[in-house]
Amino acid sequence: MTDRELVDLAFTMLNRSYVPYSHFPVGAALVCTDGTVFTGCNVENAAYGSTLCAERTALVKAVSEGRRDGFDRLAVVGNSADYCWPCGACRQMLYEFAPELKLLVARSDRQFVTLTLTELLPHGFGPRSLD
Ligand code: THU
Repeated sequence: MTDRELVDLAFTMLNRSYVPYSHFPVGAALVCTDGTVFTGCNVENAAYGSTLCAERTALVKAVSEGRRDGFDRLAVVGNSADYCWPCGACRQMLYEFAPELKLLVARSDRQFVTLTLTELLPHGFGPRSLD
């Protein structure tokens, strides 16, 4: 799957977002090195802090299906003028399983930037930090 296809797939997830509070849909698509794809959207909650971000939805879907490694690229997209940067909690969750992950971060006009998770989360705290 090309980067463009992964970003476009993440855009298809925007209409699955449950966003009655922020009205800010986010879509995600996570592809593994073997080509398996896990998608996600944000799922909000009346207790706002219980909201799940789109990236974490995709990641937790993958882990709950038995995937713990081999994550290659993650597209994160929004309808915003600015790029839909992953929040700090998502960066941390992704770092646990995929410190080498590449991210494709898009804005509403579907332009996207490509960067690494370690660029977004330098000196991250991960499983090896506990050794
Ligand atoms: N959101 C995500 O889904 N991913 C992020 O990394 C940033 C924020 C969602 C959470 C909430 O539903 C909405 O965007 C506004 O914060």
